[in-house]
Amino acid sequence: MNHEPYKLIAEGFTPVPSIGSSETGLHFVESFDDLDAVGVLVASEGEVPASIGLTRETLERAGFDGKPGSTLQLANASRALIIAVGGGKPGSLDVHGWRKAAAALVRATQRHSRIGFELSGVEGVDAELLGQALAEGVLLARYNYSSLKSKANETPLSVVQFVAPGIDADAAARGVAIGRVTVRAATIARDLCNAPPSHLTAAGLGAAAKELGEKFGFGVEEFDKQQLIDLRCGGLLGVNAGSAQEPRMLKLTFTPEGTPTGHLGMVGKGIMYDSGGVSLKPSDPMHLLMKMDMGGAAAVLAVFTALRDLDCKAAVSGFLMCTDNMPSGSAYKLGDVLTTRSGLTIEVKNTDAEGRLVMCDALTLAIEDQVDGIVDIATLTGNALVSLGQLTAPVFGNDQRLVDLVLESGGRADEQLWQLPLERAYRPQLDSDVADISNLGGPYAGATTAALFLAEFVGDTPWAHIDIAGTMQSDKDDAWRSKGATGFGARLLIDLALGYSAD
Ligand code: BES
Ligand code: ZN
Ligand code: ZN
Repeated sequence: MNHEPYKLIAEGFTPVPSIGSSETGLHFVESFDDLDAVGVLVASEGEVPASIGLTRETLERAGFDGKPGSTLQLANASRALIIAVGGGKPGSLDVHGWRKAAAALVRATQRHSRIGFELSGVEGVDAELLGQALAEGVLLARYNYSSLKSKANETPLSVVQFVAPGIDADAAARGVAIGRVTVRAATIARDLCNAPPSHLTAAGLGAAAKELGEKFGFGVEEFDKQQLIDLRCGGLLGVNAGSAQEPRMLKLTFTPEGTPTGHLGMVGKGIMYDSGGVSLKPSDPMHLLMKMDMGGAAAVLAVFTALRDLDCKAAVSGFLMCTDNMPSGSAYKLGDVLTTRSGLTIEVKNTDAEGRLVMCDALTLAIEDQVDGIVDIATLTGNALVSLGQLTAPVFGNDQRLVDLVLESGGRADEQLWQLPLERAYRPQLDSDVADISNLGGPYAGATTAALFLAEFVGDTPWAHIDIAGTMQSDKDDAWRSKGATGFGARLLIDLALGYSAD
């Protein structure tokens, strides 16, 4: 990371996860060692566990109702601070509830380094999934982007112990190991998104990808401007025209041992900064978030860091389309026509609808690579945020089997998705008088018309599209989501790749 005040553009970017997912010891134990703080699950009714040492009436008088997400710190004479962690109705927590409970405990113990969590009512829950969820809840909630603060004042989390009577401890430990890998991935995605736009350029992301590829066992091919010209990627080149920075297309490849179960393509929007271009965005708080317009590319890159360690059986090819979108004397203009790799021509009616322009070339390249299916992920439209908010991302597609696989992965990762219809009746809104298609739809259903634009480039290849403009970022700390970049999509796409087969 670059700290020289006169030189904003970093020579290289080292995506060192800012939390130690590998340094933190996470263990299931019979009884706690000497710890700084211990959380105890307390349901909203029934008996209060003995380790709380208080009656329900006392807890209620202190304002603790046992609802999921609630915590109460209890002053007491012992060395460890005791924290009541709300569990809802007795035995009602599912895996997602446990992830959130672990996150709530961590948020109540930000200044503690050795913490414990006494669980109860885990009998019906799969031990491996529970271990994974607890690791994810703890480590994602402790995430903090602090590498640019002169004084980092966070307390490192060194030990987390879980006491869960009756649990299959081996299975739970396997789950923890899986959770460490998914958290490492999501953390890389968050760090990349949180990085300031001038610190992380398209070339910088290329350097980061190479470093990660070597470390985590996947291939990285970097295509520079001249190579993109040779490939006739007119969409990506058009958007890059106004930039002082070169574009990059990064092709990531993961090849499993043995015969692959299928070949999955992943495409990520990598707009390093979206000013809107000549269709300049207003300087409102939303504009400030446009350093995260590469959240799709960050999620795809993050996925690749997990595939070898989680023994993915499918071949996966990733295409990250990276540039910033800037206004300047050389920028592409309204009325310009771009010729894409597919041969289709596009009339530019708004330079702020740039995501679809860079994505279309990647969709064409993925199909040329003979993938069995494509999933793309992009911070594509403000309309996705307006329609479904910050917790749920719309998903579209031309193949219900693939869309269902994506929906199921979102369900398992607790990264919420909602399918919206790819309403073909709106396609004429993209008609152009001078080119094959325009990059701007009508005033309504902006996420749908953006998806319809992408659909033009995939033909019959099974394809699903996730619009993460709403979910890439959180305005507040909320369970395992930390304020700022969420890393949304990394965990769900890991799950998708792990379960993927051609048919
Ligand atoms: N990067 C934005 C979408 C976005 C908005 C992401 C809010 C995250 C939060 C995208 O490139 C964009 O500007 N889209 C325009 C498209 C419009 C001009 C058709 C939009 O959604 O307003
Ligand atoms: Zn834009
Ligand atoms: Zn954008």
